[in-house]
Amino acid sequence: MKTQEEGRELQERIRRAAEAIGAADAVLITAGAGMGVDSGLPDFRGKQGFWKAYPAIQKLNLSFEEMANPKWFKQQPRLAWGFYGHRLDLYRRATPHAGFGQLLAMGQDKAQGLFVLTSNVDGQFQAAGFDPERIEECHGSIHHLQCTQPCGETVWSAQAVQIAVKADSLHASGPLPACPACGALARPNILLFHDKYWVENRIKEQEERLWQWLEMLLVMTRRLVIVEVGAGTSVPTIRNRSEFYAKVHHATLIRINPRDYLVSKARHISLPLTAQVAIDAIWQTWDALGGKGCDQSRVAATV
Ligand SMILES: NC(=O)c1ccc[n+]([C@@H]2O[C@H](COP(=O)([O-])OP(=O)(O)OC[C@H]3O[C@@H](n4cnc5c(N)ncnc54)[C@H](O)[C@@H]3O)[C@@H](O)[C@H]2O)c1
Ligand SMILES: [Zn+2]
Repeated sequence: MKTQEEGRELQERIRRAAEAIGAADAVLITAGAGMGVDSGLPDFRGKQGFWKAYPAIQKLNLSFEEMANPKWFKQQPRLAWGFYGHRLDLYRRATPHAGFGQLLAMGQDKAQGLFVLTSNVDGQFQAAGFDPERIEECHGSIHHLQCTQPCGETVWSAQAVQIAVKADSLHASGPLPACPACGALARPNILLFHDKYWVENRIKEQEERLWQWLEMLLVMTRRLVIVEVGAGTSVPTIRNRSEFYAKVHHATLIRINPRDYLVSKARHISLPLTAQVAIDAIWQTWDALGGKGCDQSRVAATV
């Protein structure tokens, strides 16, 4: 149980977070698998976390890093598509939790708007109504496909794909998706481990748009706030980029994570809470402060 003092300290951090968002001209949301947990989507934290979500893969004694390897599309395509077909179905059926809409509302309020950077491949920000032109999915998207060879640079929508998966063995049955150009097996356009076949042009375009937006903020000396949610430490892409942008933009970084919550600078704000609880608490405070009308001088003192 939290002591009174810890509770007060947390309230104070939530207030600082709401004020930092209130005073910003632009919001960058950076998100890892923890963002989806409150929508009922598993993270893959550690081997045990991954195996809890996928007991069939525990029987094969494969870690997430070993399973997310392009070799399975060549060696065992039905296992590879069993794993990704199951996730495709899970992510399609998920409803984004309320925190997505609250972040969207706080970001949309800003003169320079918001941008999302996520390593999640689940398409949940698009499903929650975020502008697809303002999302970088740095590890790709399960809702897009590419050729396994690959015979070219084409990336296409997975909308028409339906994969039947046997629950016990996690093997796909029925026809598997094929490349329309060469007929070879298709695979999700997701960056896998040791992936020399990854077709990166879709993500490069997204990255370029984020880079241009950030550059515009620097040129116009606009104030950025970064809200990082549920980014893990085992593949620290999101955490590293959050910290890099916070440094370059002298931005406040709000880190929401029930376990991996430490921050490196006093001006940053660590919230050791789950995504939905933390975002709701910030939202309530931000709303009570009048959204845009936060006290700028108090925020400036924390930067
Ligand atoms: N939904 C997805 O698209 C999805 C899901 C799992 C893994 N992945 C892939 O796995 C790789 C590792 O990703 P990762 O570091 O984001 O995941 P991870 O599983 O390694 O870490 C998850 C993080 O979320 C935190 N977390 C757990 N529950 C939370 C909650 N309710 N609210 C907020 N935070 C919570 C954990 O403390 C941890 O720090 C990435 O490449 C990613 O593409 C994607
Ligand atoms: Zn092909």
